[in-house]
Amino acid sequence: MITNMKLVATAATLLIATVVFAQPALAEGDLEAGKGLAYSCLGCHGIDGYRNAYPSYRVPKLGGQKAAYLVVALKGYRQNTRQHPTMTGQASSLSDQDIENVAAYFASIGGDTVAAGGSKDVSFDKAQACTACHGNNGISVNAMWPTLAGQHEDYLVRALTSYRNGIRSDPVMSIQAGLIAEQDVEVLAKYFASLEGLETTKAE
Ligand code: HEC
Ligand code: HEC
Repeated sequence: MITNMKLVATAATLLIATVVFAQPALAEGDLEAGKGLAYSCLGCHGIDGYRNAYPSYRVPKLGGQKAAYLVVALKGYRQNTRQHPTMTGQASSLSDQDIENVAAYFASIGGDTVAAGGSKDVSFDKAQACTACHGNNGISVNAMWPTLAGQHEDYLVRALTSYRNGIRSDPVMSIQAGLIAEQDVEVLAKYFASLEGLETTKAE
């Protein structure tokens, strides 16, 4: 019996270890190098409420965002699976290692609430369809998926619309966004924006 318990415990430990190691490698980026690179990004991402010109919507908050997701997003702009000429230009000037570094930097700063796992309960029933990936309280449960809590409302509307109309293509989120009823896009954006989470990263 004791041996069995030990076996079960060992199996559980191995399982946990496998799950942990199966996660994408995290924080491989060099924070100092990332900080240097981030300086040019803060001209847009470091100013509260700074807007994309056409169409007009606020540039996303990056402080506390998941590092692996930032890497995926930057490579998406580089490959044009996310169409945004300015960001494609920005991302194309970065090497793979630069992308790892700058992602590690943005993920590491701000976002105290993110680190603490959020502060509010999911009380909105339509958001239940999103929490399996984007987490209770809008704090994502996997480094590959973005945290939505605290993001700008108009940016969230823009992002959801972009998955729906093909400006962004992603095998997972394009399908998810297609399932949202037209009138719920704004409601969901408003909900996730209202949760505490991401922060605008200021130049020091
Ligand atoms: C001229 C303004 C501007 C500059 C400079 C800029 N960005 Fe952006 N960035 C934007 C806008 C606008 C978007 C939203 C694009 C969209 O709709 O997909 C964006 C989106 C992003 C996203 C996607 C965020 C998300 O939640 O999906 C990342 C990551 C990002 N930028 C990183 C960077 C990095 C790193 C730099 C510096 C190397 C940088 N940006 C420089 C304007 C800018
Ligand atoms: C099965 C997992 C999954 C579910 C469920 C899901 N998403 Fe996503 N979501 C993702 C992934 C993966 C991405 C990143 C896609 C990419 O790389 O562009 C994403 C990206 C997003 C973004 C873009 C964030 C940014 O910073 O640009 C928004 C907004 C979003 N999801 C909202 C939602 C909403 C609202 C729901 C519920 C109706 C939902 N998602 C359900 C996996 C999921």
